[in-house]
Amino acid sequence: MGLTATILRSRAVAALASPQGVDRYLEQVNPMWAAHEVRARIVDVHREVDVPGHPPVATITLQPTSTWRGHRAGQHVQLGVEVDGARRATRVFTISSPDSRHGDRFTVTLRANPDGVVSSYLVERATPGTMVHLSQAQGEFVLPDQVPEHVLLISGGSGITPVMSMLRSLQRRTHRGRVTFVHYARSPEHQIFAAELDEIRRSGHGIDLHLLHPELGDPNLSPAFLERLVPGYRDVPTWACGPAPLIEAVRGAYGDAESLRVEYFQPPRTSGTSAEGDVAFARSGLEAPNTGAPLLEQAEALGLTPEYGCRMGICFSCTSLKKAGTVRNVLTGEESSDQEEEIRVCVSAPVGDCVVDL
Ligand SMILES: Cc1cc2nc3c(=O)[nH]c(=O)nc-3n(C[C@H](O)[C@H](O)[C@H](O)COP(=O)(O)OP(=O)(O)OC[C@H]3O[C@@H](n4cnc5c(N)ncnc54)[C@H](O)[C@@H]3O)c2cc1C
Ligand code: FES
Repeated sequence: MGLTATILRSRAVAALASPQGVDRYLEQVNPMWAAHEVRARIVDVHREVDVPGHPPVATITLQPTSTWRGHRAGQHVQLGVEVDGARRATRVFTISSPDSRHGDRFTVTLRANPDGVVSSYLVERATPGTMVHLSQAQGEFVLPDQVPEHVLLISGGSGITPVMSMLRSLQRRTHRGRVTFVHYARSPEHQIFAAELDEIRRSGHGIDLHLLHPELGDPNLSPAFLERLVPGYRDVPTWACGPAPLIEAVRGAYGDAESLRVEYFQPPRTSGTSAEGDVAFARSGLEAPNTGAPLLEQAEALGLTPEYGCRMGICFSCTSLKKAGTVRNVLTGEESSDQEEEIRVCVSAPVGDCVVDL
């Protein structure tokens, strides 16, 4: 850290810049100057997939401020944008480029959700020069420092982003072991990173690549199919990311094997759970039978618009006061019956009657 950065991060400067904070002043002078916050300038927007009638996918290259501490392949960032002068909206996206270090450029690859605020803005409207706000890299869905001799990567759709970052990092580290990569896409035209994967397939690089399109007749993921591809797959360290049905199939195939790590882009479905009682939203005076879905979804179904960011329990922007009842965390299965407690409504599903201050 240079002397200037040390001074800018000192208590004396913080006191002088109070209450705005030193980063507000630095930002006015140069948006790429920051002492604490992380911001980034978009330097490139590259269309990866553009199939008429389907949401496009783009890779955005970001030059972060020097406050960026780097990332490990598989991690994600919270990315915030101000669209048309509205309040900043923050969502979570995985870094698709290989491991990065302090201040390095990196990429995120997003599908433009037609109903989504942030992804459609970034894919369809953002241009080089646009500034975005970032968190530091987060998440435990990463390769260990000592990479196992054989690694199995499984992904579907835009869930390819963390495993692609891993694959690229392994190539960069000239990993000498085996890598088996199984990816599911709707069709070859929907394949993200198609040219790079084609090159990997042609040159081998020690990567056993399987690009599958079940809608065109390729087999769906099943224990028998996995066993054919990778005999004894349950013992092979595996990283999987993709849509809920794929991840459910993967979990079913591995049972309780400890070799499997999964990353969710959306909370897992809440099937098989009892959905009794009523949910009351105290501030708005609305009440409805409990559907068993996370409280955020139940509130939205009644027309409420609570604040949210990641919808996955990561950013805490949906935190609300539960006044009564029991909720289950849909990611961990943990239940909590404490009264008057702060909960993240995006991952909290009521178990029976529940009252929330929304
Ligand atoms: C760890 C992690 C990593 C991720 N990595 C990637 C990635 O690499 N690439 C990628 O493309 N995606 C990724 N995602 C998914 C991405 O964060 C979400 O798809 C995100 O919602 C996109 O933001 P958005 O602004 O486009 O959509 P949002 O504005 O958040 O809208 C998303 C959806 O939320 C629902 N919704 C929003 N508002 C309402 C409402 N009022 N009522 C009812 N429903 C509503 C709608 O179904 C809408 O389609 C990741 C998610 C996680 C948790
Ligand atoms: S929306 Fe991010 S924690 Fe709930």
